[in-house]
Amino acid sequence: MSMPGAFVIFGATGDLARRMLFPSLYFLDADGLLPSDLRIIGAARSVHTDAEFRKDVEGWVRERAGAYFSETAWASFAKRLTYASGDATDPKTYATLRDQINNAPGGALFYLSTSPALYIPIVKGLADSGLTNPPNGVIVEKPIGKSGKTCNEINTAIAEHFAENRTFRIDHYLGKETVQNLIALRFANTLFEPLWNRHNIEHVQITVAETLGVEGRFGYYDEYGATRDMVQNHLLQLLCLIAMEPPHDMRPESVRSEKVKVLRSLRPIRDSELMMRTVRGQYARGVSEGKSVPAYTEEEGGKPSDTETFVALCAHVDNWRWAGVPFYLRTGKRLPTRHSQIVIQFRDVPHSIFSGAPLMANRLTITLQPEESIALTIMNKTPTLMQQGYELQPLSLNLSLIDAFKGEKRRRIAYERLLLEAISDNSTLFVRRDEADAAWLWIDRIIEGWARTAMRPAPYSAGSWGPAGAFALTERNGHSWYE
Ligand code: BG6
Repeated sequence: MSMPGAFVIFGATGDLARRMLFPSLYFLDADGLLPSDLRIIGAARSVHTDAEFRKDVEGWVRERAGAYFSETAWASFAKRLTYASGDATDPKTYATLRDQINNAPGGALFYLSTSPALYIPIVKGLADSGLTNPPNGVIVEKPIGKSGKTCNEINTAIAEHFAENRTFRIDHYLGKETVQNLIALRFANTLFEPLWNRHNIEHVQITVAETLGVEGRFGYYDEYGATRDMVQNHLLQLLCLIAMEPPHDMRPESVRSEKVKVLRSLRPIRDSELMMRTVRGQYARGVSEGKSVPAYTEEEGGKPSDTETFVALCAHVDNWRWAGVPFYLRTGKRLPTRHSQIVIQFRDVPHSIFSGAPLMANRLTITLQPEESIALTIMNKTPTLMQQGYELQPLSLNLSLIDAFKGEKRRRIAYERLLLEAISDNSTLFVRRDEADAAWLWIDRIIEGWARTAMRPAPYSAGSWGPAGAFALTERNGHSWYE
């Protein structure tokens, strides 16, 4: 398929467009990665001339690019930009757009960076104006629905006009360098694969911790909570990459078919197990990064609420490779540090010959952010001279990806990779419809179970690692979280 001639962003003056989309397109262009004739059209309700819009975009790009801003790169990028003003429910908006797209060779890609409530009206508006024929395609942001049912409604409405291979569902975690590196780590090395199973792995931990609170997004967040906002998408995608079988190749269908098998193997959490296998928390007042911060319900726009800002789950992937291996998932706002980490905890040695010397089982720690690194903890003999026996100590083989690729230009924003993949018509890093459905099926059951059993979030102090129940979740199985 040829490259699109037009890239249209709905919600072009919104937060995501300002912070991520335009800066990403600018960086791609500055690196010569955009098709030379690609036009970028911003669409939103407010009224702007093209010149005013370019001025706004310049401000956003300058702010994000900082020292990387180049006047020459900007001048060339600005030439690509035009603006289409209009309401998403007004047919005139699409007529204006159609004129601007003007049968761009290669077709148009439409990025829906709006409230999800507008997804269906926009797709309908595009269809009514004849803008949904192939090779045109659509990119949709999360949240796609609030449940399996609403996700399905949106996907069905989109599927009436765009084929699955022209629909790109974004999960920005799949654009992160280290997340892609998980595939390389597992399948470009022979070292790990023979050990990557229930015989050698005791448990897996996936933590995505944030120090921020809801940052002025109370209205949105309160409707969703940590489970829908983070686990249904980002954490389950990480789990899939860790747990999936080796795909035959890197083609979109090969990789995504393996991921969906993992999601379908997730053991449903029954109502009677919710207390033991799930923890919900909501942050109370506390101290975050040295500053006193309000409780969740006291945030701007806040109100009394039963929405969780923290969740920890004990998941099981019921298949031959993973039977009996707990996958602990944990994410929350206002935790002590910002870090995303995957820990693969290997089993203890079957028999220790070092009497008296405690042994620690091997551990592979993959840190996604803030710094990207891979560390393998192994037991070593200390150089101490002793009359009897050995003194042992765990040490880490550390690979800092920042240091290893010092000379390389690292992509600054996860969206850069994803936009480039969509423009290049490669769906590998996008979520297929059946993946989204399978993830919702597992999540819906938990959320509905919480409602059925009236399991409310437990308070935790802002700046702490969540409610006490989160520790009990792992300790119950003789495990503990690594921080
Ligand atoms: C978004 C969530 O998808 O991911 C936010 O809606 C969250 O609530 C963000 O803060 C975290 O992304 P990152 O890339 O900062 O880890």
